[in-house]
Amino acid sequence: MAGPPGAVLFRYLTRLDRYPDTDPVTHKSMDRIMALAKRRGFIYQASEIYGGLSGFWDYGPLGAQLKKNLRDAWWEDVVLDPCGGAPGPDGEPVRIVPLDTSIIQHPRVWEASGHIGGFSDPMVDCRETKARYRYDHVQVYLPASGDRAGKPLFAFVADTPSEARQRKKAEKAFGELAVTALSQIPQGEWAHVIAPDADRPGTLTEPRAFNLMFRTYVGATATQDDVAYLRPETAQGIFVQFKNVIDTTRVKIPFGIAQVGKAFRNEVTPRNFTFRSREFEQMEIEFFCHPDQARQWYAFWRDQRMAWWRALGLAGENLQLRVHAADELAHYAKEGAGTSDVEYRFPFTAPGFGELEGVAHRSNFDLAQHQQYSKTSLEYFDNERGELLPNGAHRGERYLPHVIEPSAGLDRGVLALLCEAYTEDPARASPELLLLSPRLAPIKAAVFPLVNKDGMPEISGRLYTELRRRFGRRGHIEHDVKQAIGKRYARMDEAGCPFCVTVDGESARDQSVTVRDRDTAAQQRIALDKVGDFLAQKLGLG
Ligand code: GAP
Repeated sequence: MAGPPGAVLFRYLTRLDRYPDTDPVTHKSMDRIMALAKRRGFIYQASEIYGGLSGFWDYGPLGAQLKKNLRDAWWEDVVLDPCGGAPGPDGEPVRIVPLDTSIIQHPRVWEASGHIGGFSDPMVDCRETKARYRYDHVQVYLPASGDRAGKPLFAFVADTPSEARQRKKAEKAFGELAVTALSQIPQGEWAHVIAPDADRPGTLTEPRAFNLMFRTYVGATATQDDVAYLRPETAQGIFVQFKNVIDTTRVKIPFGIAQVGKAFRNEVTPRNFTFRSREFEQMEIEFFCHPDQARQWYAFWRDQRMAWWRALGLAGENLQLRVHAADELAHYAKEGAGTSDVEYRFPFTAPGFGELEGVAHRSNFDLAQHQQYSKTSLEYFDNERGELLPNGAHRGERYLPHVIEPSAGLDRGVLALLCEAYTEDPARASPELLLLSPRLAPIKAAVFPLVNKDGMPEISGRLYTELRRRFGRRGHIEHDVKQAIGKRYARMDEAGCPFCVTVDGESARDQSVTVRDRDTAAQQRIALDKVGDFLAQKLGLG
């Protein structure tokens, strides 16, 4: 099926990836989802009138509200009422406090966190496969004889499939093999090097340093001494303020600190709509616990976070929890209980999945690093643990807490919700709709007069004012008096509005209205003075 003209125009304007018409696994078309997102004012490309800026996106009126609703849901379920009151593995209510730290931190923060070292490794690209490799990870099979003039050299990365594959080819070519680092091969010979996943020789680029952090300058002089970075994750602000939170509040371990905010990464290949952006928002919890309890808290948070996404409507087989293999673990998660990702099957990842949230046991990596770099003790004094001394006194235990980190992407969450909600129903006047949960829907209800005359707009206007006064702080209520009623329903279906209330010719006589359910398109008659209670119950607005 050809997409609507908007899809083509949008792809042209934004120079985005091309997608197959309808993904055969999710049965959804990414082109049509993106066109709807634009048409209904959910997501626009940033700076679009200037031709756009790759990796940056703006949220339109409906998208801004949807994103806020998801952020608020996270805040309510994480900070205000953690885990809906479910006790933690210690049997106690889960305790979380919020924090809001600066996007720009002292540059040493990023040295301590490993971002400056870790993100600035020289990388080589393969022009044939577009794969990118850490320069220092690439090795090369050579003939053991030492005579390699004009011969192909087989590059590989240890512990990846390329190692065995390239060895087989090299053995066939040379018999006995020697191994050396790519860095030991003079660049004049790289024309003979076959990259780890390539077929042709000579496709590797020169090594280049990639630092994913955006640089800026603090102060007017803009010298090397004034270099600062936009944070690539919100997490480090939490670790850096751990001591202040402990010292100024009455929190006791185990407890968590939660923060939501912008993060920036100068992604080399931003792609797949908002999935890999250069500016995005994270919702992160750093949960501090005694090292002995880390495994239990890790399992607790992994399951809680999976259940949370499910409750928001990512309920089907498109959601999965995936445990990281040992060789995938980030530098901060090498030790300990591991990492699990909550993943969603987007139309562009299908049949595979893309990460929505990672739950990692970071051990005490970050606190230990910041303690070392800042020369400030970040140890926690735990008076409820410790030992009884021979003299009968109690001595508390001093330790660096371990951290369980559930780290979610707000923009990826919005994208997953849009993909999941997007539904085609050819039987409808407008065949596309968004089945967003009432909690997240940007418009909670719309009120229409069937026609804009005969006293109907007056009744609908009064109903709109009443509903807006009652629910307006909990969600948007729309009043729309123009266009054919079918078009107004279709517009609200595409906006994901769960209920439309229509005042018709009978309403003045029988004091009732028609309420249309978005999911079924079924209509029912309801007394005018009961509409508020009906919506309160259906939308969970209390
Ligand atoms: N503090 C840990 C951390 O930042 P991460 O896996 O790099 O871990 C956490 O990021 C989440 O942030 C991811 O699960 C994803 O949802 C989101 N995220 C990461 N990079 C992103 C990008 N370039 N664009 C959009 N979201 C991104």
